[in-house]
This record gives sequence, C-alpha cells and structure tokens, in this order.
Amino acid sequence: MNAVSSTQSATHTSSRWTIADAMKIHTDDPTTTMPVIDYAFPVIDSDVWQWDTWLLRDIHGKTVTFKGWYVMFALVADRSATGDTVEGWHSRNNYSYIGYYYSRTGNGADWKFGGRVIKEGANSRSWEWSGCAVMRENSGSTVDLFYTSVNDTPSESVPSYTTGRILADANGVWFEGFDVCTDMFQADGVNYANIVEDQYWDFRDPHIFRNPDDNQIYALFEGNVPGMRGDFTIGSDEMGLVPPATTVPAGAQYGAAAIGIARLKSDSTKGDFSQWEMLPALVTALGVNDQTERPHVVFQDGLTYLFTISHHSTFTGNSTGPDGVYGFVSRNGIFGPYTPLNGSGLVLGNPSAAPYETYSHFVDPAGYVQSFIDTLPQPGSADPQDPATYRIGGTLAPTVKIVLDGERTFLTEVHAYGQVYAQGVWPTSSAWDKRS
Ligand code: FRU
Repeated sequence: MNAVSSTQSATHTSSRWTIADAMKIHTDDPTTTMPVIDYAFPVIDSDVWQWDTWLLRDIHGKTVTFKGWYVMFALVADRSATGDTVEGWHSRNNYSYIGYYYSRTGNGADWKFGGRVIKEGANSRSWEWSGCAVMRENSGSTVDLFYTSVNDTPSESVPSYTTGRILADANGVWFEGFDVCTDMFQADGVNYANIVEDQYWDFRDPHIFRNPDDNQIYALFEGNVPGMRGDFTIGSDEMGLVPPATTVPAGAQYGAAAIGIARLKSDSTKGDFSQWEMLPALVTALGVNDQTERPHVVFQDGLTYLFTISHHSTFTGNSTGPDGVYGFVSRNGIFGPYTPLNGSGLVLGNPSAAPYETYSHFVDPAGYVQSFIDTLPQPGSADPQDPATYRIGGTLAPTVKIVLDGERTFLTEVHAYGQVYAQGVWPTSSAWDKRS
C-alpha cells in the first residue's frame, strides 16, 4: 500500500500541500513577513530559556484570563542547567519542561515566571514538549494540560495529558495536581508513520478543541505520512499544477509531513482523555516538507483556518521557504478540503535579513500571533547565521496581528514583546457557581 492511499478513508481525503503551491512562496513580501526585531530586545526572565508558548484558553480556542490574570505556558529550560551560552540554548530540548507565567495586564513587560507545572517525576519519560492548556468546560478551576511526553532511550514521543487546578489571589497564580500523566495515543504506522518506518518520525504537539460542526472533541498533532522513509513516489498529485516539463526534484521524497487529527472517544466530562480514534491526516506535505509542527485551528466567518509552523531546513527537493507559520483554509469545516493560504501556504515568515529570528508562531482566534526569539543577527553582520555575533533569544518576540481574509492573510499590526490579549474570562459566572 503506498502512503497516499493509506491516508484516504470514508471520512475524508487528506488535502495536499503541493510542490506547485510551495513554488509560490516569496520571502520578504511585507504582508507575510515578520518585522526585523531590535537587537536590544528585552528578556522576560533571564534565568530560563523560553520557547514554544501557549496561553490558557477554553475548548473553543478563546484565550481566557483566570480571575483577572493572563496565564501562559511555555517550554522552558533552566539556563543554569544548559549553560547560559549559544551551546546551552541549542541543547535546550534535552532539559525541557513546561513552565508558566502570569501577568495582570497582558503587557509583555509584566510577565512573572511561576515555575514548573507538572509535578517532578509525574511524566515518566525524559522531557516535556509542546501541547496546550484548556479550562475544563463547566468547571471553576480544572485545567487539562495536553503535552508531548518524549523519551530519550528508547526514543519515544507520545501525546499525553495531565489534570490539575489553577488558583489565584491578588498576588499571583499557582497550580495544584498535575501529578498523574496519561498517554493519549501513539503513532500507529497506518495513519501516521512510526519510528519503525521513519527514524526521524514526528509525533507530537497535541492541540485539543471542540469542533463547532459536530460538537465533538478532536486533537490536532504533528505527524508524518505513513510508509518507509524516502520510499515514496512523488507523482502528479504531489507535484500539483507545475509548468510543463517540470521534473520531480531529487530528494523531494524525504518530505513527508502530515497534519494529524484524532477524535476523542472517552468521556471528557469525567476528565478522561485516554481513548481516541486515529483519523487520516488533514493535510499532507509529501514531496514538499518533512515537518508541520504545532498545528492549530481558528474558526472565523464560517471558514476553518489551519495553521502549522515549519522550518526552512525541512523543505525538500527544490522547495524552499522561511522559518515561520504556514496555513490552509477550508470552506467545509475541519475535514477540508483545504487550500493553501495566500496560494503558497506562507502566512508569516522570517525576513531574509534575520532568517532565524523567530519561530513557533501561534495564531489566536483574534489574529494575534505570538512567537519566540531564536537567533537574532547583529545589525550589519556579514553573516546573519554567525553564532559569534548573533544574539540568542529564549524569550518572546513582538506580538503581531494578522487579518484573515478568506484565502488571504495580511500582517497589519506590530505590538509589544510578549503582549497578549484575551477573548474571554474565567471563571464564567455560571461555571463559578458550580465550581469543582
Ligand atoms: C516546535 C517544536 C515542537 C516540539 C518542541 C520541542 O518548536 O519542535 O514540535 O514539541 O518544539 O522543543
């Protein structure tokens, strides 16, 4: 069975991000390019490296404040553990845990680091990687935290969850619980590649939401097209509408990213997120790119916007594009079919003057986009990728706003570093009456 037919089912057919779509990617278009960040950017907390970040939200995707506090979760690593150096920053994945921050105002300058969320030892594997934090529906203070439980040896990557309570007073925010971690699902080798098929397989970053069309709970996640690595045939479906005489570029077959989806089968009202039905990918990037990370969704104007982050280094064949956030839109709900936004899929990329300045962009339902600063070239530097002169980030970039206009997106505003906005409050008064 080749990979493409295995991604098809009675429920839906995976949409494709094709080689022709990727040919339309243009770096430095002002409507799809992050602003160049000031070399003198501020750091939220210089004791930790901060990268992938997600805000406390409800199951519908709205960012919420809790008792008036903005709350964000992030992958962090203690700089004292990694070393406060270029090498330390690049080793952070091996020290990663989920930390949290809180702020009264949502102003970037105002965040306080609150420490670790998951009880030490509760995650049975080596590291905690990305996910999301969702206020349990009809509860006063229950938070379900979804994350990726990653193991070093043997190599494992398992979307998982843990539950706790959020508490707050006039001085700050803290947590209780998060002391039991449970696996959600594993790469099955049928809908998504597993490690046997692809030693570089990706299977992580659960994003949980309630689908407005059928009211069911789903998880999006990063996966790969099933099949042996490099063993894919790139044909006209993967090429798309390319000019005549375009041939399949060498190496294209190593790109096999997939935006995964699974449907919850267990009872969320009891806090049981352990049973899921694996479904075929929403979008595959066979022949184009090997990683579509942190997929997330925004519902607006009856359209479904699917966003994912990807790297310059994971494009394959002749395809190329900047580090940034890419996206697809469906007029028919979550299962598509999807069309690449802006024709190419590129929504916000790094400028060529600072090609690795930001990453891990997350688009909220109002179009505000958060990301972290990775490496920022010294102004005027001959080589923007020279570690001797670039400045390491490990903190949040300026928030930007994009407008979603059908199949197009536009960068329209630049806000402060680490600035956030909320679309809802928690507890809602009715939920507070029934508080658990
Ligand atoms: C994106 C990402 C995620 C992963 C995490 C690990 O920046 O690669 O896919 O969960 O970072 O640091």
